[in-house]
Amino acid sequence: MRGTLSFWQRVSIIGASRASLSPPTAGKLSVFLRRQSTRDSSSMDLSHMRKKYKGDEECFEESELTSLDPIKQFGTWFDEATKCPEIGEANAMCIATATKDGRPSARMVLLKGYNDNGFRFFTNYESRKGRELESNPHACLVFYWEPLNRQIRIEGEVERIPYQSSCEYFHSRPKSSQIGAVVSRQSMPVPNRAFLREKNAELEEKYKDTQVPMPDYWGGYVVKPHLIEFWQGQTNRLHDRIVFTKVATDAELGEHQRSGESCWAYQRLSP
Ligand SMILES: Cc1cc2nc3c(=O)[nH]c(=O)nc-3n(C[C@H](O)[C@H](O)[C@H](O)COP(=O)(O)O)c2cc1C
Repeated sequence: MRGTLSFWQRVSIIGASRASLSPPTAGKLSVFLRRQSTRDSSSMDLSHMRKKYKGDEECFEESELTSLDPIKQFGTWFDEATKCPEIGEANAMCIATATKDGRPSARMVLLKGYNDNGFRFFTNYESRKGRELESNPHACLVFYWEPLNRQIRIEGEVERIPYQSSCEYFHSRPKSSQIGAVVSRQSMPVPNRAFLREKNAELEEKYKDTQVPMPDYWGGYVVKPHLIEFWQGQTNRLHDRIVFTKVATDAELGEHQRSGESCWAYQRLSP
């Protein structure tokens, strides 16, 4: 009999017998049983995972935009995210890039600055994202600040920042991070971790008393936005979405579009 039961079936029987002895484990039992049923069909059923967002009284109305310039509105939400104790790295963002023929890839990077011109981050120009950006200079950034139920999506064209600006940032980083950037030919295969450790030790010795030169394969990019969307989650799923798009000064606005500041227009999207 034992041999015919799957691991999760056995775990659920143990869970069930424990649950009958001690009522407080009933919650755990439901997890066990759910696992059993999901494993039976050899897939994980996550349909029960649902979180409460904000109530309707906390919705995000157009009147609550602190600015009709989305970069300034970004600043308001970003500041609130940095002040939220549950958010460890408010400047962590997902960046999606794509190959020239449109095959996408995404990963997290850190936002290192923003202004009217765009959103800046640093990386290895020869990495996968670097190579994709060199052949297809369009990217999408996504911030998700879960404790605030907020997401910001930014789409735009990407450019390398000036060499001098990259150099300044490179040398402002701790020396160990500078060496790390030289060691890592990001996204290239390496034989093992020891290989990187040895290379790191070699370079630490080499640059013990001198400045680490910034490698030419490392630097910053700026994402120059043409679309910025602010999303706030509502428990009843009538989420708020206000999207700003750049428009030409003489362009006619769409039916539900309103003009914002400095070449931006905005409208509400259905969630
Ligand atoms: C929170 C977080 C922050 C990161 N910040 C950066 C960053 O600023 N620059 C960077 O090149 N990689 C950063 N990474 C690593 C990237 O996610 C990724 O592994 C790396 O850039 C290689 O990606 P690619 O092969 O797609 O180019 C970060 C990862 C995490 C989880």
